Amino acid sequence: MAREKIFVTREHIIPEAIKYLAEHHDVDVWDERSMPPRDVLLKKAAECAGMLTEITDIVDKELLEQTSTLRVVANRAVGMDNIDIAEATSHGVLVANTPGVLHESCADFTFGLMLSLARNIAYGDRQIRAGAWKVFDQIPYVGTDVYDATLGIIGMGLIGTAVARRATAFNMKIIYYSRTRKPELEESLGIEWRPDMDAIFKEADYVSLHMPLTVETEYMVSSRELGLMKPTSFLINTTRGRTVDPKALYEAVANKSIAGAALDVTDPEPIGLDDPLLTLPNVLISPHIASASSATIRKMGQMAAANIMAALEGNPMPSCVNPEAVERR
Ligand code: GLV
Repeated sequence: MAREKIFVTREHIIPEAIKYLAEHHDVDVWDERSMPPRDVLLKKAAECAGMLTEITDIVDKELLEQTSTLRVVANRAVGMDNIDIAEATSHGVLVANTPGVLHESCADFTFGLMLSLARNIAYGDRQIRAGAWKVFDQIPYVGTDVYDATLGIIGMGLIGTAVARRATAFNMKIIYYSRTRKPELEESLGIEWRPDMDAIFKEADYVSLHMPLTVETEYMVSSRELGLMKPTSFLINTTRGRTVDPKALYEAVANKSIAGAALDVTDPEPIGLDDPLLTLPNVLISPHIASASSATIRKMGQMAAANIMAALEGNPMPSCVNPEAVERR
């Protein structure tokens, strides 16, 4: 197979995958920790056959229109909201993601956020570091049980399912809303489907978001949905920041219309230090790391590299979301 040009938009995250690609192709890497500036991304796209991207690299109409060489974009992520898939298809560019390798890590993390928020683990740590632990007094840190509570999952894909599996061990009642009903999971995990999302917001003690960011889900959780939640309920977001209206969330937590929120994703990212959400003790925020265990990052890198290799060889890709793009070349 002829050597082709591949651009990898971050070097330090997936060195093994880069090494593997470099055995077969000419790999150009952006070797800074921050993302390549837009002009660099456009220039590289115009020269290469494949790009291995992160979620912050925007692959849009402008980029796709000014390259005639690009044949595959492999995102090292399961989400693909940074890529205009319809436009890529019309330009004959294959788009790939990394499902099936990160859902367990994301589910672990979701549970970590839920427990940490409900039982004031991160808050307690913050208070200790601020010098606030002077006497034995549990009262400022009294939390809410996760065990036996009702978990509402929105989006029952691989990650939602992995979260539900963990929740069974906590004896939770699990209700879900998803585009596709999953009778086999209802049977095997004892979970209950709700025909509309409002029921999830109304009934759940913990609402956990696992749907992808699309035009339909952008700012889907706003003051109306938050207003349906109980004052004792918590919101957990590990999908994309832009699924939740941050102003409405601030108001809901500040006005105590919900009990708190744990967010691995924010709008914008990184969240600004002056963001009002950071003033609320019952909002817990992590820097978009739900999938980031060392084993999972490695697997995501390997899968992204395998997607590029297969696409350039004309072989079936491990995970391609628009195989019909081939016919447009
Ligand atoms: C991470 O956010 C991903 O989409 O994999």
